[in-house]
Amino acid sequence: PLIVVLKGGTSAEREVSLSTGHECAKALEGEGFQVIEVDAGPDLAARLAEIAPDVVFNALHGRWGEDGCVQGILEWMRIPYTHSGVLASALAMDKERSKQTYVAAGLPVAASVLATKAEVEADHVLTPPYVVKPYNEGSSVGVYLVNEAANGPPKLSDDMPDVVMVEAFVPGRELTATVMGDRCLGVTDILTDGWYDYDAKYKTGGSRHVLPAEVPAEIYAACEDYALRAHQALGCRGVSRTDFRWDEDKGLSGLILLETNTQPGMTPTSLSPEQAALQGMTFGQFCKWMVEDASC
Ligand code: DAL
Ligand code: MG
Repeated sequence: PLIVVLKGGTSAEREVSLSTGHECAKALEGEGFQVIEVDAGPDLAARLAEIAPDVVFNALHGRWGEDGCVQGILEWMRIPYTHSGVLASALAMDKERSKQTYVAAGLPVAASVLATKAEVEADHVLTPPYVVKPYNEGSSVGVYLVNEAANGPPKLSDDMPDVVMVEAFVPGRELTATVMGDRCLGVTDILTDGWYDYDAKYKTGGSRHVLPAEVPAEIYAACEDYALRAHQALGCRGVSRTDFRWDEDKGLSGLILLETNTQPGMTPTSLSPEQAALQGMTFGQFCKWMVEDASC
């Protein structure tokens, strides 16, 4: 079969996607697939019509590639593609609507409000500590942590969207769990010196991953359960990764679901490939499974 690996694109996570795409393309070649890497641009539909792949491996992250837009083009062209479809992608990328979905499914989330940039800059919208984030980006791009009331409200950069999410900051540990189809692959505890920001995510040695996470069995099982239920509530397909924060002083009630990523990173420092390996899968087998799971 001929596979197009879609990568790059124009979101803030372009560089991450180039890395994810390249890793997946290499792995699929190793599995015997014929692979063409395509940098997603305005001529995408024409390129796909010309190449006529059997499957598109979607390695895009962020807006346009992870939010249902590209999925819509692929549905329209009747080309089977990996990962989630239009609705689940759009839902998961919208931090407010995904949160409503989690709440309806009985999953725990942090208190939050939507606010305009002007409101956020004028005064504290929530009592610090809180986090300000775009409602539609990934990889901690444009995430502000406001620690102390004394520091005053944050000044947001011009490229933040007009409406942002302001969310109560949950102290404690950063846990994450990958779902593949109908099972959870494992729970990783992410240790960083500070904030698990863009650099900590993608610089080698920027963070340390403890897998399986050294947390009480009850917390480990809850992460697996919540990740699976979030995947199902959003209507995800294939592989997704759900991120949590856990305030260990509060036990199970301190576990909060942050978000589900419908296009989890597959870079050399990414978490999902490690969790697949925990289950005895090579990266090639993991990518091959996604290709076989593709549909439209
Ligand atoms: N948004 C990045 C790619 C991730 O969640 O892995
Ligand atoms: Mg994300």
